[in-house]
Amino acid sequence: MQGEVKVNYRKEFEKTARSMILVHNTKTLARIVVKNIVKNTGATHACVFLLDKNSDEFIVKVSQGAFGVKLPENFAKLKADNPIIKYFRGKKYLKQSHGFFILEKVIASLKNGPAISKTDRSILSGSIEQAKLYGAQIIVPGYFGEDLILLIVLGNKTNSMIFTTEELSYLSVLSSDIVMAFKNTRLFEDLSSQVELNKKLFLNTVTAFSNAIEAKDQYTLGHTSRVVDFSLAIAKHLDESISSDKAFMEKIRISALLHDIGKIGISENILNKKGPLTIEERKIIEMHPEIGFNIIKHIKEFDDVSLGVKYHHEYCNGKGYPTGLSGKDIPLIATIISVADCFDAMTSDRPYRKALPLNVAIKEITDNSGKQFTPKIVDAFLLAIKSKDIK
Ligand SMILES: [Fe+2]
Repeated sequence: MQGEVKVNYRKEFEKTARSMILVHNTKTLARIVVKNIVKNTGATHACVFLLDKNSDEFIVKVSQGAFGVKLPENFAKLKADNPIIKYFRGKKYLKQSHGFFILEKVIASLKNGPAISKTDRSILSGSIEQAKLYGAQIIVPGYFGEDLILLIVLGNKTNSMIFTTEELSYLSVLSSDIVMAFKNTRLFEDLSSQVELNKKLFLNTVTAFSNAIEAKDQYTLGHTSRVVDFSLAIAKHLDESISSDKAFMEKIRISALLHDIGKIGISENILNKKGPLTIEERKIIEMHPEIGFNIIKHIKEFDDVSLGVKYHHEYCNGKGYPTGLSGKDIPLIATIISVADCFDAMTSDRPYRKALPLNVAIKEITDNSGKQFTPKIVDAFLLAIKSKDIK
């Protein structure tokens, strides 16, 4: 190894392993692996092929190096019947090659080895052809249990020397860690896409629920989606700690979508009554926040959401319903929905009156600051009007 800078493989291995732990994306991980291998072994180039479970093909993800073959991502694919894949899935050929494909050794085994069957001969000579095609001197497999899941292809060394035993054992240890890291990132990616899918499914279900309320209460068509928009617009103009809290903004959206879900439990005859309501009927309508709360209270993730549903008709001065909470005791989410809900009710046509002009509705909200509505929510509402987030 004269003239070569000695690489501390143990240290390099630990460094590579450490950087791999932090990565949650397979492509970034492949890039780190290839970069470290090229740097530490002095290979002209290296690339990573990863198994695509659906097509059972090994697809090139990252290819790097000073010289040699560089393949664009997804450009090269090794199918299940490729001799290289048969070589590694067959495993019996690995014994004489330290668990790798080493071009020189495979060529030698074909020339000098004991009697080789026709099938083995075709796999070995086919592998040699494939290795030459990709400029591969060494191919390192990565197995998870019995399953081959990745291949690391290395070109010649830039100094034309052969790979040392130390380098081969570095690659061998690294390969099993790379497999675990790839498995973890794949799991993370699968989980992330599952979470996204669940989120979409969940929002669609909630929207279907809120559509069910609107179908029942014919006078509130479009009301729910406007209350959602107005609530989010008001929240946007509250403290930055609130407006930048994505999780809370999402809860506002869902709570506003579901705020009248309890109307599902109220008779359509009362909801759609043309004339004035009797005291008894009003009492029944005023049960909808409690009914809604009881519908969703068992859903653990709905803690704040259910508070918006239960308390959106409470008044700042304690004269609202269903519990008569006042001031700071009313949950924030409910105080936001309250203003959004009343503003939309005033600016929409109702069976018993026409929509109020915008300025009249705004004055009504302002006049009731500290009475029906929480002052800081009214302030945020006025900012939303001023900036045309509500119009
Ligand atoms: Fe309501």
